[in-house]
Amino acid sequence: MSVTTHPKVSTHRQPEPGNFAFTDEEWAEAEKHLAKYPPHHKASAVLPLLWICQRKLGGYLTHSAIEYVAQVLEMAPVRVHEVAHFYSMFNHEYPGQYFIQVCRTTPCMVRGADDLTEMLKRKLGVDLGEVTEDGLFSVREVECLGACCNAPMVQINDWYCEDLTPDRLEKVIDDLRAGRPVQRGSQAGRVTSEPATGPTTLTEVDEAGHPDYPFREGAEAEPAEVRIAREQAESGEQSGGDT
Ligand code: FES
Repeated sequence: MSVTTHPKVSTHRQPEPGNFAFTDEEWAEAEKHLAKYPPHHKASAVLPLLWICQRKLGGYLTHSAIEYVAQVLEMAPVRVHEVAHFYSMFNHEYPGQYFIQVCRTTPCMVRGADDLTEMLKRKLGVDLGEVTEDGLFSVREVECLGACCNAPMVQINDWYCEDLTPDRLEKVIDDLRAGRPVQRGSQAGRVTSEPATGPTTLTEVDEAGHPDYPFREGAEAEPAEVRIAREQAESGEQSGGDT
């Protein structure tokens, strides 16, 4: 495969040491990330490349995968190890088929994160960091996952499960164990992070179904109140300019 944006990348198709290597499809994905950065800053792609490795390996990173990324990005291996061991999104042992990360930071904590963790430990019969005997689940506590509006929440593999109670999360576990489809996002039925009682702003839509807000495409760019204030300022009314 020819690479134009980052020509050095393709020279590392058969890295040594180790036997880890991307497939052509994984290379295509990696090169999309690399194309976001100048060639001399390709180390910036370390997180998405490690993520591709982890997905390829079924949920965790190996030493050889980390070394491979270091070669691809021309980084000192220790720097890639540092990144891979800093972020809780990366595992270094098999985390089971469903890796559950319970957010325990303040908004989730005050909304019941501890109850979620206790329910999971009791239901799954594991402590934090352990994998269930059937290899299906493991649980870890992590810091804010950026969905505080829908607290408490957990991340399961690469998707979020929000607006949780112990009962709601228990149902998710039962559904996953039974192979039933699981609703992603809010478990309370709300759309993204709109108010629990439904939207209170942008409730009117135009004929195309788009919210009727002032700066939408095709709308008057300047809201009326801004235009009036600007015109008053320009005419000197607001400041009493000619006195
Ligand atoms: S505190 Fe839990 S998502 Fe931010």
